[in-house]
Amino acid sequence: MRKRIAILDYGSQYTHLIARRIREKKVYSEVLPTTVTAAELMENPPLGIILSGGPASVFAEGSPQIDPAIFGLGLPILGICYGMQLMAHKLGGKVEPGSEREYGRAQLDVVRQDGIFANLPESFTVWMSHGDRVSALPKGFETTAKSANCPYAAMCDESRRFYGLQFHPEVVHSEHGTELLANFVFGVCGAKPDWDMSAWIDETVERMKQEIGDEEVVLGLSGGVDSSVVAVLLDKAIGKRLHCIFVDNGLLRKDEAAQVEQMFGAKLGLDLTVARAAERFYAALKGVDEPEAKRKIIGREFVAVFAEEARKFSHCRFLAQGTIYPDVIESSSKPGNSQTIKSHHNVGGLPPDLKFELVEPLRDLFKDEVRAVGRLLDMDAQLLDRQPFPGPGLGVRILGEITAEKVRLLQEADARVREEVRKLPNYKSIWQTFAVLLPCRSVGVMGDQRTYEYTCVVRSVDSIDAMTADWTRLPYDTLATISSRIINEVRGINRVVYDISSKPPATIEWE
Ligand code: XMP
Repeated sequence: MRKRIAILDYGSQYTHLIARRIREKKVYSEVLPTTVTAAELMENPPLGIILSGGPASVFAEGSPQIDPAIFGLGLPILGICYGMQLMAHKLGGKVEPGSEREYGRAQLDVVRQDGIFANLPESFTVWMSHGDRVSALPKGFETTAKSANCPYAAMCDESRRFYGLQFHPEVVHSEHGTELLANFVFGVCGAKPDWDMSAWIDETVERMKQEIGDEEVVLGLSGGVDSSVVAVLLDKAIGKRLHCIFVDNGLLRKDEAAQVEQMFGAKLGLDLTVARAAERFYAALKGVDEPEAKRKIIGREFVAVFAEEARKFSHCRFLAQGTIYPDVIESSSKPGNSQTIKSHHNVGGLPPDLKFELVEPLRDLFKDEVRAVGRLLDMDAQLLDRQPFPGPGLGVRILGEITAEKVRLLQEADARVREEVRKLPNYKSIWQTFAVLLPCRSVGVMGDQRTYEYTCVVRSVDSIDAMTADWTRLPYDTLATISSRIINEVRGINRVVYDISSKPPATIEWE
């Protein structure tokens, strides 16, 4: 069995970042629930255990605990934030409720420059986020670092290989955080850097074979990166027992539906059902120009069309989804917001007669890890590098009423925008670039002819997480090429403008 570092998840939003930092060092790490027992852990003995941070207080009733036998396994243990407090509390030290939260950067002074502080400077900046703190060390422990507000910012019992850190080494604001984790993983636990994403693929395919057994699976394929990677993984695991459904809502980018059919149907030979529902969507959207009303109609029709198709596969026990880790965090921490944003393409609201169990193989991965998996699976680079595309598609980029003709115009303009931006050396650092069609027309002149046609907006933004964004400083030459290509090649648009608004106060999409 694979050598691993086990991470017990006490609920911090950073837990998966710990796993990710360790995976980046080519060591397999696995996030487990805090209810795991010592015996369960020893079915595949880990090289070491990390107790993550978490929002609870060790004093609160019902706060997450640890099987005390885990401390007797003789394995190295690193407690981070709540994990350190729990360790101190359980091993006979004292934790005191913090009178105020310590949140943000703090200067750390290292007292013992060995163990997990080996080869690190005497003083550096770390990221704190805690209320309670350790006020007396358990027997056998000593202080290894302190900060102005925290006399026991780090502790260790070298003989038992137990370590505690009050700060979060896994976040980027903590200097030398990765080295600290590496010191624990390699120096203390003796791990070897011999794991990579291809091992993750083998294990995931194997696990899905086990989980799914002889049953069948339906997958909603959206044409985006995540569901496409899930399709290829499931194809490896269960082959013909995977049934993919792709809804062409008539609001996709140019040639997108054909590309999905070509890649997943013709090339990979998956069982693919394409629901050609463009006319149905256009009919439902006829005469509607209010943005929220359009969104609701698109979402409702999507669920209806998907459910109609899925009903043909109701003998399937499982529904596969391309949920990735940021979706998991978003929907648990901000239910009102991100969940509704994504409900239509995550098939949130299937009718009650369709009861599927979920298969979500990418739940633990970040977007760039999903892309890495896709590359290892030899998937098309153009597909893997795709920018985010909203569920309601071009529906939120055609202002006012949507018609088939406007969709065609926007698809043509948008294709040219994307073709030109793709040529830029920094293409991968741009969050999104696309075209928007305005509902107004203006006068122009072409040859000797007066024109009276639509205006197209080019929107390009740089962002880390789509919560805030700034407009991309696209080179003038690229803007010039985009403008002349659209005006010359797309009959029906005679004016191109560039959107120079940041978010906030504007949003990325226009509707
Ligand atoms: P805004 O326009 O809110 O967009 O600044 C932020 C990010 O979310 C995407 N977006 C959506 N994605 N369904 C989605 O799946 C939607 O209804 C939706 N609306 C916006 C948008 O493309 C950007 O990446």
